[in-house]
Amino acid sequence: MLTTDLLIRFLNRNPALTITGIEKEAGMAIRSLTQIISLKRELTDKQRSKLLPILMKYGYNEAFNLKATVIAIANNKGGVGKTTTTAYLGEALSNRGLKVLLIDLDSQGNLSQIFNVATENGQVFNSLVNYTIPMHIEEVTENLHIAPSDLELQKAEQTLLSAPASQQRLQRALVPFLDVYDFILIDCPPSLSVLTLNALNAANSCIVAMQPEMNAVNGLNSLFGVIYETQIFSNPTLHIEGILFTIVEKNTVHNSMKEAVRENYQSVNIFDTEIKKGIEIKKAQALKAPIFDFDKNSAAAKSYDELALELLNNINSKRNSK
Ligand SMILES: Nc1ncnc2c1ncn2[C@@H]1O[C@H](COP(=O)(O)OP(=O)(O)OP(=O)(O)O)[C@@H](O)[C@H]1O
Ligand SMILES: [Mg+2]
Repeated sequence: MLTTDLLIRFLNRNPALTITGIEKEAGMAIRSLTQIISLKRELTDKQRSKLLPILMKYGYNEAFNLKATVIAIANNKGGVGKTTTTAYLGEALSNRGLKVLLIDLDSQGNLSQIFNVATENGQVFNSLVNYTIPMHIEEVTENLHIAPSDLELQKAEQTLLSAPASQQRLQRALVPFLDVYDFILIDCPPSLSVLTLNALNAANSCIVAMQPEMNAVNGLNSLFGVIYETQIFSNPTLHIEGILFTIVEKNTVHNSMKEAVRENYQSVNIFDTEIKKGIEIKKAQALKAPIFDFDKNSAAAKSYDELALELLNNINSKRNSK
């Protein structure tokens, strides 16, 4: 529901919109909107229904919320498209007007490399080991920001082992950003290490990127076990947003593995959107170019936009059913 807080937040994000212009378009009385946003008057249902279509015309979406939705993109299996999904889902959401922060939580630094972002001015590691250092953030575009990492992050695993609250470090570091961004996407390393546990404790939900290969299903049970234990012991609101099939090929092995996953995990959401195997992803990553800049009409860009839309719809319908 459109609240005064959300209205103020949306208007703050869109300085080009004028209050008088919006009042006029929505057919509202002069200065009525000014009174609402200066908290002198409450927003009525009638005003809400006049305002909503106008704000939506300018990109308002129900996913605009007071707190960021934090999603960990995880799978302990390597090379399944976690980083690619974090990067391009983030791009797609930001292109839809949402403010997105990406967290590179893998010492391979692949996410930072995809956007050609360096770590010389700061990186995630520093904030994890020293809670007084604010998370260092770089701007990719106006709506898409990234907290980068490199090999230095490897040290965190050792350092954090003997540190208090070693699995809650990221959660704490993200607190100042929860009312700045609509989405925070965390790219997890290919392991169930303390870094992945930090991501699961900081997140509201988890997208499991999965290539439907023979050995992929085996690792899934360990990941789900860790997610459920995190839920039970430390993060009760954590849930699985969905399994996303990635790097999908049209062959009998992939078809039967997808079927097996659907059969074995009937209670888990599986995204309708699939990410097909495509050379444009490798080309864009080699050039360190955002996929929507590289080719916004490519199959990859279109699929990740479809995924963004499916995710937003799922979040909206969950919110509306509460
Ligand atoms: N849909 C796709 N089609 C073709 N290649 C892809 C696709 N998605 C990812 N790739 C390529 O596959 C490789 C692995 O992808 P990515 O780095 O996203 O996986 P990952 O799960 O993050 O890997 P790691 O576990 O090492 O962090 C990369 O070279 C990437 O360019
Ligand atoms: Mg990766």
